[in-house]
Amino acid sequence: MAAMRVDGTPTRTIWPLANADAVEIIDQTALPHAYRVLRLARLEEVAHAICSMQVRGAPLIGVTATYGLALAMVRGDDDAALLAAVDTLAATRPTAVNLRWALARMQRCLLPLAPSVRAEVAWQEAARIADEDVEQCRQIGRHGLQLLRSASGARDRLQIMTHCNAGWLATVDYGTALAPVYAAFDAGIDVHVWVSETRPRNQGLLTAWELAQHGVPHTVIADNAAGLLLARGDIDAVIVGADRIAANGDVANKIGTYLKALAARANGLPFYVALPSPTIDWRVQDGLREIPIEERGAEEVTHVQGRDPEGRVVQVRITPDATGARNPAFDVTPADLVTGLITERGIAPASAAGLAAMFPDRVGG
Ligand code: MRU
Repeated sequence: MAAMRVDGTPTRTIWPLANADAVEIIDQTALPHAYRVLRLARLEEVAHAICSMQVRGAPLIGVTATYGLALAMVRGDDDAALLAAVDTLAATRPTAVNLRWALARMQRCLLPLAPSVRAEVAWQEAARIADEDVEQCRQIGRHGLQLLRSASGARDRLQIMTHCNAGWLATVDYGTALAPVYAAFDAGIDVHVWVSETRPRNQGLLTAWELAQHGVPHTVIADNAAGLLLARGDIDAVIVGADRIAANGDVANKIGTYLKALAARANGLPFYVALPSPTIDWRVQDGLREIPIEERGAEEVTHVQGRDPEGRVVQVRITPDATGARNPAFDVTPADLVTGLITERGIAPASAAGLAAMFPDRVGG
């Protein structure tokens, strides 16, 4: 499977600069209207990039945080500086467990070391975690491709529905839910993706942008159109990503995922969740009760962003001035609605036994 490209150039979503004093990211708040690269040189800039969703998507949030720690170590490498940086980054977003997983791994790696070597080792470990993410996503693509091969053939064109953005932009490369789609497309399978816009932040438009960059046929739909398409038999399979999977297979993912899972089940259609293993939280046994759900600002619901006829990106209010809004950013899909978990090791049943059998070395960890 080919690596992802921007205007034909292979591009990751985050990369360190050669002199190791900054990282660069793709500013996802500017997409799909503008492609803009941002340079982050300080811990505070990294924390802001995660909070404001200049970078987003569970695996990419985790990797970005590791580079944030490396930048922090360049400016102060004692224990207090390390632990304060971990706390600052851990406080940015609560639901995606990849953030906590990555910070815990960095802390385990750096704390026993002499402060003088911490910055150098932090850059190396961050790069290792980024490379591992790429490989995990590549493997998810490989395993998911087998599923899609068996699902294709019933009609001329394989019809996949996804939600939010669990593509290349949500990871370092390839994506999770979209990795099988890219693998299928590259293998010559005629695949078309139904992209739900994913209000309130419209991450579906990021999905549309990256599918267009790769040449994958796709169509954007309003979130509310998903049920009709599923009921009409227009879809072969739903594939989404995840921000945190409980040890029992419950799936926390972007708000609206649960409704798609219900509609898929009601219509007898497969509903797959693709994830790298750092997305599994082995300490959580019950997703709905235990996974913290991020509440974001009401203005993400009361306003929408778009491009005006002059090409300027503007925000407009869509609700009455006096009307309040709530903005839960994720929901939890119970494991029994999930047909299978596409991981870097293969397809696991969404259950405690299924996950434990796929990851016997991690269970309980
Ligand atoms: O709020 P976001 O945009 O960070 O949420 C992203 C999602 O919910 C994705 O579906 C999930 O992180 C999977 S990413 C591979």
